[in-house]
Amino acid sequence: MIEESQFANTNVIVTGGAGFIGSHLVDVLAGHGAIVTVIDNLQSGKWSNLSHEIGISCITADVTDRDQVDRIFKDIDPEYVFHFAANASVPGSVENPDYDFDANAGGSYNVFRACRGLTGLKKVVVASSAAVYGEPAELPIRETTTLRPISPYGFSKLSTEHVMNCHHSVYGVPGVAARIFNAYGPRMARFVMLDFLRKLGSNPDVLSVLGSGQQVREFTYVRDAVSAFLHLAVYGECGQAYNVSGGAPMSILDLASRIIDARGLSATCRIETTGASWIGDAQRWTTDTSKLQSLGFTAEWDINRGLAETIAWFDSEESR
Ligand SMILES: NC(=O)c1ccc[n+]([C@@H]2O[C@H](COP(=O)([O-])OP(=O)(O)OC[C@H]3O[C@@H](n4cnc5c(N)ncnc54)[C@H](O)[C@@H]3O)[C@@H](O)[C@H]2O)c1
Repeated sequence: MIEESQFANTNVIVTGGAGFIGSHLVDVLAGHGAIVTVIDNLQSGKWSNLSHEIGISCITADVTDRDQVDRIFKDIDPEYVFHFAANASVPGSVENPDYDFDANAGGSYNVFRACRGLTGLKKVVVASSAAVYGEPAELPIRETTTLRPISPYGFSKLSTEHVMNCHHSVYGVPGVAARIFNAYGPRMARFVMLDFLRKLGSNPDVLSVLGSGQQVREFTYVRDAVSAFLHLAVYGECGQAYNVSGGAPMSILDLASRIIDARGLSATCRIETTGASWIGDAQRWTTDTSKLQSLGFTAEWDINRGLAETIAWFDSEESR
């Protein structure tokens, strides 16, 4: 159970806090009375994602800039760090693996390096990804499942975890990693739900689904992802990684049907599949989240409720 008072008046740094998941976390932390500094290079995030004006400082900075990261961390002397800043796209990592590695692995190194010797630091929670598992060797995926990434992104996130582990064991930096499975919700800038909603907006008669549509995913509503990060900050065991998932596996075709239904198009819209998938597109991910649940976390948003909120947000953005 996370008490609001646990973060009141604490100094917190959120890297990538102008992005999708990070901005929701900043909202909650600011609401809990934390003093939040957000570092973001605005590569995919935007300051307008942050609704609170009180208790938040925004710094436009790149986590690949080691000296600047160092200066900011020394200056703020945080008790908690949430590290989201990264290239967050698998196809993006295939197109530009250099940037992906520099931002994700190199940026994480700079963040953990800047945490060495910070005496008041209680926890660094870093955003890893389900992509570290690649096409998993077993289902459901446990944290002990073999890590064998199939994309530059999966590899750079695995490197991030190694950076976290090494800084914990060698320098005593209290780091913990969250392996996020398909987060969704308001403010998302990419991913399959947004793709479907946009396609249906331009052509309500046909929905083209990349791949076979048989890929299985578990979707995590962004507010559950935020709750997981807060649980990890307070209760996560240092040097450990935790699966973060909303549970409830479903195929991409099932998701497509739900969105078509929600749009009232089930009688008229047909689904087409492209057959071919993209590099790094794992076919089947189902998770075991008992390790995270042992910290008191429960996913509270089922797909129907989360999807309704997401569609309402999408429509309000479109009507602007
Ligand atoms: N959304 C998901 O389903 C998902 C799944 C697994 C892991 N993750 C991880 O969670 C984190 C947040 O993902 P998101 O979906 O909110 O993505 P996002 O792109 O919305 O957020 C990333 C933020 O980091 C910033 N950023 C990127 N490179 C930076 C750099 N070099 N220096 C400073 N800021 C930089 C971006 O501007 C953006 O605001 C990422 O690390 C991502 O890899 C997300």
